[in-house]
Amino acid sequence: MTNARFVSAPARIGAVGMYVPARVLTNAHFEKLFDTSDEWIVQRTGIRTRHVVSEGEYSSHLAIGAIDDMLAHNSSVKLRDIDYLIVNSSTPDYAYPSIAALLQTHYGLPNTVGALDIATACAGFAYGINLACGLIASGECDRVLVVAADALTRSVDYTDRATAVLFGDGAGVALIERSAQPHIFGMSHGSDGSGGRFLYRTNVRSEINGQIDESRLLRQNGREVYRWVIETIPAEIERILARANLTLEQIDWFVPHSANLRMIEALDKRIGFPIERTLISMVEYGNTSAVTIPLALVPALRDGRVKPGQRVLIMGFGGGLVTSGCVAVI
Ligand code: ACO
Repeated sequence: MTNARFVSAPARIGAVGMYVPARVLTNAHFEKLFDTSDEWIVQRTGIRTRHVVSEGEYSSHLAIGAIDDMLAHNSSVKLRDIDYLIVNSSTPDYAYPSIAALLQTHYGLPNTVGALDIATACAGFAYGINLACGLIASGECDRVLVVAADALTRSVDYTDRATAVLFGDGAGVALIERSAQPHIFGMSHGSDGSGGRFLYRTNVRSEINGQIDESRLLRQNGREVYRWVIETIPAEIERILARANLTLEQIDWFVPHSANLRMIEALDKRIGFPIERTLISMVEYGNTSAVTIPLALVPALRDGRVKPGQRVLIMGFGGGLVTSGCVAVI
């Protein structure tokens, strides 16, 4: 791509955290519900287990779990220094108050903190990071907490074998803080609302695509979404790299939305990137929407696979249809 705008922010990922609920569902669980098999699920998706919320457990609780985990691993981080909370969720506890406002109260943060919920489905972790970069670059903020928290299983139709086996719950968080030198590059977004009909959940409006769906449950045409990902994401990656003034060869780790292992393998093949340097989370956690990216990244940062100074390409995509990505130098 020529004449790309160079995009960077004087910001870095300062700390991370993650959380998954205790209850685990194996593929064998679904064999009792409908006609499916561990073999079909593993072969088509790579998913073996997923963690799901229990009675009384909501997205805000998962968010608190992830933030507490970040604090437990980073004793120097003080939440009172946070200027802004950005929370992405497709399954917020309430339409309002927002999860961000619930977190402000839970942690006793000053009333001057910004509190924003966004709804960018599986692209939400990258969207949140990129918005945080803008808030820091403008001079308004020095530290922004970006949270992805989803209890997607609260919106799953457990009579539909095509979607029931795919999803799990969890939360992830990244502290985006001001840095002397830019550490986040190439921030980029995309959208194609015409594909919204392939992945949706009705809300106060029941009519969609000329049909009535009062279930308020997640509906997906998996084959169409798969096709859109393979056709669209390579160009989105090119756009991010051009805006970061980098080539794919300069990327150490690729962290795409972990919806389906076969799809990620096909994507890697299409763009020419090794699966060994692609971080994934769906095998253990299923598709956790925007949380798949932190669930893949946080363990790799903690076990030393991702090293200081390395470049990580983050690529989110999902319902909307929307995409969002950037390159972060760790
Ligand atoms: N067990 C057994 N058979 C099944 C199951 C199951 N759990 N689910 C579907 N099938 C059957 C179907 O009924 C169909 O049978 P038929 O041929 O007799 O009609 C057959 O398997 C093939 O169905 P497809 O839907 O075409 O299966 P596909 O190979 O495409 O796999 C999947 C489905 C896994 C959903 C895949 O399409 C996919 O991963 N798509 C992308 C999903 C994604 O990336 N979503 C975006 C993010 S999610 C978000 O934003 C919330």
